Amino acid sequence: MPEFQTTIIGSGPGGYVAAIRCAQLGMKTAIIERYPTLGGTCLNVGCIPSKALLDSSEHFENANKHFEAHGIKVEKIELDWPRMRQRKDEVIEQTCVGIQFLMKKNKIRVINGHATFKDKQTISVIGADGAEETVSTERVIIATGSKPSSIPGVVCDKKRIITSTEALSLEKVPEKLIVIGGGVIGLELGSVYARLGTEVQVVEFLDRLIPGMDFSLAKEIQRILKKQGMKFFLSHAVQNVSVEGEGVKVVAKNKKDEEVEFRGDYCLVAVGRRPYTDNLGLENIGVSLDEQGRIPVNENLETAVPGIYAIGDVVAGAMLAHKAEEEGTFVAETMAGQKPHINYKAIPGVLYTWPEVAGVGFTEDELKAENYNYKTGSFPFKALGRARASMDTDGFAKVLTDKETDEILGIHLVGARAADLIAEAVVALEYRASAEDIARMSHAHPTYAEAIKEAMLDATDKRSIHM
Ligand code: FAD
Ligand code: NAI
Repeated sequence: MPEFQTTIIGSGPGGYVAAIRCAQLGMKTAIIERYPTLGGTCLNVGCIPSKALLDSSEHFENANKHFEAHGIKVEKIELDWPRMRQRKDEVIEQTCVGIQFLMKKNKIRVINGHATFKDKQTISVIGADGAEETVSTERVIIATGSKPSSIPGVVCDKKRIITSTEALSLEKVPEKLIVIGGGVIGLELGSVYARLGTEVQVVEFLDRLIPGMDFSLAKEIQRILKKQGMKFFLSHAVQNVSVEGEGVKVVAKNKKDEEVEFRGDYCLVAVGRRPYTDNLGLENIGVSLDEQGRIPVNENLETAVPGIYAIGDVVAGAMLAHKAEEEGTFVAETMAGQKPHINYKAIPGVLYTWPEVAGVGFTEDELKAENYNYKTGSFPFKALGRARASMDTDGFAKVLTDKETDEILGIHLVGARAADLIAEAVVALEYRASAEDIARMSHAHPTYAEAIKEAMLDATDKRSIHM
């Protein structure tokens, strides 16, 4: 008899949520984590530390640039970067300890060390001290996540040519930061340093930022971030990155095929992440990877080997913490004989700049590509009483609906608190609401959420009230 009914490899948001749900469903559960703290990328070097720095740097920006307009005079504003970093580390610690507590509460055995399959029911775990423990288990959920990727020929030395992990803990605030990649990491961490006084130059291969999100959001956030001081070089293909003395040199080719040189203190490479399966022993159980290094799974998130499941960043789909969490719950419930469901089209994407950017459902380009008969409605934040009160007037809400049935197909937001506002859009999509449904629901006044109601009114007979 194996010792555990379910063993999870990896304690990120996919793994720890799966472990808790398995335990709630009565399974004897173990979780294996190679790092000393639980929580994976998200808690240790991802979502949580980046948001901690975004929040702190936003306070600094507001104190420097916006307090005066609100009638607050501050004599001298100084940046205490070591304290800002320390607060971020404290937030990480509290959050990771919280996961440790949840494991204990749910009677989940935590095993520290690197897991390698010996066979489909036997896992070898090598601890930091080199000692080996063998775990026997009926079923396994692989939740080993992802690592930063790079571009061909560019090696991150982690000193001057850095990934997001190092960018979260730089010793000094740089004077000049070159960011390769205008995606979520580039814009969030770029924002942090731009607010702290760094000259941030974003070099992006495509002719737009945040690919995958609605193009209108990309255009709007580029305009706003430019106003905040960030510089963008779109349609630039990076050729080479080198360390030169105390700095870096990045060479890229622009649309006209001309060489453009960028120099800075650091170069942050933020061009996506790759699934992580190093030394997992997948070959010992007959699981092979797809061409992008991901673990192939069926509609139940089960690999080619019965009883071995995979979730989160290591499988196909958006590399997001909440997607990994949904998959963790899905697999636990599937194993328990339930019939859960994930609507991948209703998983929101958020960019935590200020203002925030958020979207869910179909983008306008996706509908155009399908020749879909759709209509749009939109509403600018500057026409909201709440936005004028807080002076957060940048941005808009945009809705895409089926022209015939009025069903909501996508909601896209740039504006204050868009990250929280998108929850209403998710509910609307999941319940297959029409624009008319939402337009007729009371939204508290004055709130930013009124932008969504007004966009729905605009989508249904152009009848928004405050425009
Ligand atoms: P991970 O969180 O990567 O966890 C995998 C775990 O498995 C790791 O702890 C690893 O050590 C462990 N592991 C791997 N192999 C083994 C092995 N063989 N044995 C034992 N343990 C192993 N997403 C959002 O939704 N919102 C955000 O705001 C957000 N911000 C981000 C900011 C940054 C800077 C980064 C880098 C990412 C961010 N993400 C965000 C993405 C998010 O962190 C990931 O999508 C999420 O962590 C994936 O969860 P996961 O459980 O699949 O894997
Ligand atoms: P990303 O996929 O968001 O963006 C990468 C960007 O790099 C793209 O715009 C791409 O066109 C560009 N790029 C690729 N090759 C390039 C090259 N050679 N030269 C110049 N630009 C190039 O990936 P990112 O920002 O690294 O984030 C990784 C993952 O982490 C994302 O998939 C995301 O899901 C997750 N994440 C989520 C966050 C959130 O939800 N707020 C925050 C941070 C990360």
